[in-house]
Amino acid sequence: MKTILVLMLTLVLATGYVYAQEAASKAASRPGSLHSITLPAIHTELKEGEGRTTVETRCAICHSPDYIPMQPKLTKAQWTATVNKMIKVFGAPVTPEEAEKIISYLAAGYGTGN
Ligand code: HEC
Repeated sequence: MKTILVLMLTLVLATGYVYAQEAASKAASRPGSLHSITLPAIHTELKEGEGRTTVETRCAICHSPDYIPMQPKLTKAQWTATVNKMIKVFGAPVTPEEAEKIISYLAAGYGTGN
């Protein structure tokens, strides 16, 4: 009796194993079931200018520096508000001196000129 039980259990387990193997290989061969993606390399070349390194080191911690050239041209006041938001709302680790530098750089390179 015990032997039969052990045999049946083995059979059930073996069937389950074979079934799982089959399911896995079917899934692998079904077109579109396995995905491999290559993420695009993000490389933003910010404009030359005084303060660029500060922007690159401080403003790319949380998001791509792409966010900068993606904006329409902003006034200095608007850049000031954006940088202040990054610091006060999102917690960007930027000292007041660095913020000054960053704002001047942004206003010069990505600003409306006023
Ligand atoms: C602590 C994280 C963090 C840092 C550091 C940071 N940002 Fe952001 N930034 C965010 C978040 C969060 C958003 C909003 C993203 C969204 O709306 O999807 C954002 C959005 C932006 C946007 C899009 C416009 C807007 O107002 O939402 C710009 C431009 C931007 N950041 C510029 C900067 C600049 C310049 C710096 C450097 C001073 C900076 N960020 C540093 C978190 C950060």
